[in-house]
Amino acid sequence: MKIAFFDTKPYDKQSFEKYVSDDLKFKFFETKLNIDTVELAHGCDGVCIFVNDTADAQVIDKLYEIGVKIIALRCAGYNNVDVKHAFGKIHVVHVPAYSPYAVAEHTMAMLLTSIRRIHKAYIRTKDFNFSLNGLTGFDLYGKTVGVIGTGKIGRVFIDICKGFGMKVLAYDKYPADDVPAEYVTLDRLFADSDIISMHCPLTKETYHIIDEQSIGKMKKGVVILNTSRGALIDADALLEGIKSRHIGAACLDVYEEESDVFFEDYSGHIVDDDTLARLISMPNVLVTSHQAFLTEEALENIAETTVNNINEIAKNGGSQNELCYHCGKTENCRAQRLGKCF
Ligand code: NAI
Repeated sequence: MKIAFFDTKPYDKQSFEKYVSDDLKFKFFETKLNIDTVELAHGCDGVCIFVNDTADAQVIDKLYEIGVKIIALRCAGYNNVDVKHAFGKIHVVHVPAYSPYAVAEHTMAMLLTSIRRIHKAYIRTKDFNFSLNGLTGFDLYGKTVGVIGTGKIGRVFIDICKGFGMKVLAYDKYPADDVPAEYVTLDRLFADSDIISMHCPLTKETYHIIDEQSIGKMKKGVVILNTSRGALIDADALLEGIKSRHIGAACLDVYEEESDVFFEDYSGHIVDDDTLARLISMPNVLVTSHQAFLTEEALENIAETTVNNINEIAKNGGSQNELCYHCGKTENCRAQRLGKCF
């Protein structure tokens, strides 16, 4: 198998290169996959992509035309792939879990940094400014956190919050029995939470789940955390909420228009995105650049699972991590019966 690897960063190369063999070769490209770059995959059996590559219907048709048989996502989320369109043409695999701890721990790191003003204190003491003025925070103990999405990451985050003595409210489209939180309606979660953390996927239903209307239902001073997907939040509505002082703080590891800027060094450049620039300029907004997954453990797990996925598809035409676009059959499903969708 020869795999065209898009949006390559040095840490990707480091974790994947050790899997190169006579049977598996990678062709690393720094550019992202999209309709303008898809031709780079010519002569390859598969493409390996990340969160800001584009595999829409047009790109999938082109990949199919040039003989690509597999799209291997080296991430969990797959909102950037038209899985339905790929059905019957190209197998799509992903890494469902590589370290929910990495993302959940980063979410808590951002929350603590923000509310205890660690980012401000770090800069002050670097300059030998030991004043405490303006650094007053608040205790997490006894506060209510609302968690939207109680899957793998949401659950770890709930456990962490419980460790801090917080009360946890949760909302999930598919609530689970074994989650140590009180499931409530979205409206109640918005109304009663001091902190709201997003851990659901980006879908048509969750697009802009945080918008002007939902912000209006939240407590004054609410802290919003998003380490899931940018478009869960209407960034302009968030900015208005910050400007009106209704939102107390926001911690964002993801941003709606992040694909234009995140993961790249724009220091010394003028960033065209006024909303992002204004958000970053706010003292109560903390932005990291889709960094939550970035731990040694997660990178190792991502590489190992991605390579296994590619090998499984090569050998069996199916993988347990295939994103199955259901053919409509609930019974006698090929994926369940034969381990392959098509
Ligand atoms: P998961 O699939 O284990 O959990 C997602 C949960 O969201 C499930 O419980 C599901 O029932 C729920 N859900 C689905 N539709 C919903 C809706 N309409 N409303 C409320 N809940 C809904 O996924 P996991 O591993 O916990 O990841 C969550 C998200 O975190 C991913 O979708 C991805 O976007 C993001 N992520 C971000 C990373 C980062 O580096 N910032 C890294 C990895 C994932």
